[in-house]
Amino acid sequence: MSVLIAPSILAADFAAIGAEARAAEAAGADWLHLDVMDGHFVPNISFGPALVEAISRHVSIPLDVHLMIAPPEPYLAAFAKAGAARISIHAEATNHLDRSLTAIAEAGAIPGVAMNPATPASVVAPVLHRIGLICVMTVNPGFGGQSYLPNANDQIAAAASVAAGRDIRIEVDGGVNADTAGAAKAAGADVLVAGSAVFGKPDYAAAIAGLRAA
Ligand code: DX5
Ligand code: ZN
Repeated sequence: MSVLIAPSILAADFAAIGAEARAAEAAGADWLHLDVMDGHFVPNISFGPALVEAISRHVSIPLDVHLMIAPPEPYLAAFAKAGAARISIHAEATNHLDRSLTAIAEAGAIPGVAMNPATPASVVAPVLHRIGLICVMTVNPGFGGQSYLPNANDQIAAAASVAAGRDIRIEVDGGVNADTAGAAKAAGADVLVAGSAVFGKPDYAAAIAGLRAA
């Protein structure tokens, strides 16, 4: 599978969110990654379905919604209705992973499972038939601009191995930049989320091209 670049809007200028989303699409982004944080599952608060819906009116690339909320269940339909093409929930945030992935599909989005850096990749094994994406967190979730963790490439390789032979994207999220992207790809990642490495740069197109070529 070709490698896709998914800029994370978390690092964009929130006061100019429509223009930032359009700029990322124009710069060659394949997906837009939207980090939803609840101040409970993670120690930060970002935004909810209303902002997802607002962004959806500015771009035509798929919206890849990463829910860092616990529990996710009450909000799945709202994010699908807001325009999420993909919705990933954390394995650690739900007691009912199978049921909730099914609910995402029934709501019309492609389900994904996200996992924290200390969660064994085998957590996704029982639900591989339900998902189109594994989001491997390569920082502890909650904030942009953190450093790629030392176990990151091993976690990516473990997730890629669990999902081998399936039509499942392996997404790497956290600390991805021109220095870390090459190793992430070599370990098996085929979607690169990048917040600060795109929106923190003056030239989004150059940043995206750099990640693609890394
Ligand atoms: C972290 C988020 C990431 C974050 C990535 O909780 O899930 O998507 O925005 O930001 P960078 O690329 O700056 O590490
Ligand atoms: Zn994310």
